[in-house]
Amino acid sequence: MTTEALPDMTGKTVLITGATSGIGLEAAVMLAGAGARLIIVGRNVAKTGIVLAEVAQRSESKHINSMLCDFASQAAIHRLADQFIARHQRLDILINNAGTVNAHRRLTEDGVETTFAVNHLGYFLLTNLLLDRIKASAPARIVNVASQAHYQGTLDLNDPGFEHGYRIMHAYRRSKLANVLFTRELARRLEGSDVTVNAVHPGVVATHIWDGAPRWTQPIFAVTKKFFMISPEAGAKTIVYLAASPEVEGKSGLYFENNQPKEPSRLARDEALGETLWIESERLTHFPSP
Ligand SMILES: NC(=O)c1ccc[n+]([C@@H]2O[C@H](COP(=O)([O-])OP(=O)(O)OC[C@H]3O[C@@H](n4cnc5c(N)ncnc54)[C@H](OP(=O)(O)O)[C@@H]3O)[C@@H](O)[C@H]2O)c1
Repeated sequence: MTTEALPDMTGKTVLITGATSGIGLEAAVMLAGAGARLIIVGRNVAKTGIVLAEVAQRSESKHINSMLCDFASQAAIHRLADQFIARHQRLDILINNAGTVNAHRRLTEDGVETTFAVNHLGYFLLTNLLLDRIKASAPARIVNVASQAHYQGTLDLNDPGFEHGYRIMHAYRRSKLANVLFTRELARRLEGSDVTVNAVHPGVVATHIWDGAPRWTQPIFAVTKKFFMISPEAGAKTIVYLAASPEVEGKSGLYFENNQPKEPSRLARDEALGETLWIESERLTHFPSP
């Protein structure tokens, strides 16, 4: 499916996180251009306002709104979900895309390692808080932006936040493995609901995500971006494909690369691990009781 062939999304309400940069921004332009009633989520008021205007101008859509949330804060995620439910009757497509890397181990205000908190618990908590609205809008879709980095990911649930042996890539890979485990476990729980959930690797994309890597690696990223990475627009097409294509209708619990389902890592396929991660994520987010 090409962007040109994007199905008409008029009347579909779509919420996309991490829409102020990179892949999420380009996906927002495509989805709005296809007629979706779009809500972009950013974390910075000024930047989100500028991006809202850019998306409106590039897509020529009048049906775009913005909301704010720092996914490093569980209170902020609750506020986002509450505001969304108060303002919108439907949620046809939720795209969990906001992601981060952190050179140094930092804890969020909730006491969780930041990469795990934003990249995994952010997806977990927002999705669960909006799940009733998504189910009521069925047929509906959830897209979790994961990564091929999950293939090298490990998960020690006794130390999910790397109190011992923190490394930037170890933390990122773990969070992306958690995205795939979460996707599969959620799909299992949603069986029979007409809500699908899939994970996607968008490609190796020239975006700002590696700006948080150590300074000495920046020249390497600059060269890699120029010669080896795909554009944010190309990366966005893989997300939009899962969000909108009739080809994925009814498919759930899958991991996609290049618009094709692909077997995820052995750990990602470990159902017991997926279930344990779910329980641990409930504990860390105090879900369902806030
Ligand atoms: N680039 C790649 O090669 C690649 C490969 C595989 C998977 N991915 C995944 O693609 C997704 C998008 O990343 P990208 O490459 O487009 O990177 P990006 O250009 O850095 O965009 C990341 C987005 O996430 C937002 N974000 C980061 N931390 C946040 C927080 N605490 N609260 C709220 N929003 C936050 C950023 O907001 P600001 O604009 O305010 O910074 C931005 O909108 C991520 O999930 C990433 O893991 C990327």
